[in-house]
Amino acid sequence: MTIGRLNHVGMATPSIEASLAVYRDMLGAAVGEPFDLPAQGVRVCFVDLPNTQIELIEPLGDASPIHGFLRKNPAGGQHHVCFEVDDIAVAVADMTAKGARVLGAPRIGAHGTLVVFLHPKDMGGVLVELMEAPGAGH
Ligand code: CO
Repeated sequence: MTIGRLNHVGMATPSIEASLAVYRDMLGAAVGEPFDLPAQGVRVCFVDLPNTQIELIEPLGDASPIHGFLRKNPAGGQHHVCFEVDDIAVAVADMTAKGARVLGAPRIGAHGTLVVFLHPKDMGGVLVELMEAPGAGH
């Protein structure tokens, strides 16, 4: 397996509206519409950049996995990076064989494609998301 493009950088925020205003009004970026992903306990909004996207992530509901991050980082901050892979099943098998901890089974992510997360302790301290995008790897 080889990773492909950097699909997006995930940024946790206590207020998606405040964060998207920073990207739109201060930095001049094109921003999308926020939307809820109840199954994942998050509200998400994508910021479009020429070479990648920023994924703004706000907690949704009491059980959101983002609450823990915001307790440690109350102002929000960089949460994960997402790389594209050709085939998520191949990626999971390869990462597992190489000793990386894969967090749960692949599920549908914010782009409507299969994603999986890799434990930061196996990824140089960075939470890594792999997203299936056929044709991504080489
Ligand atoms: Co993401």
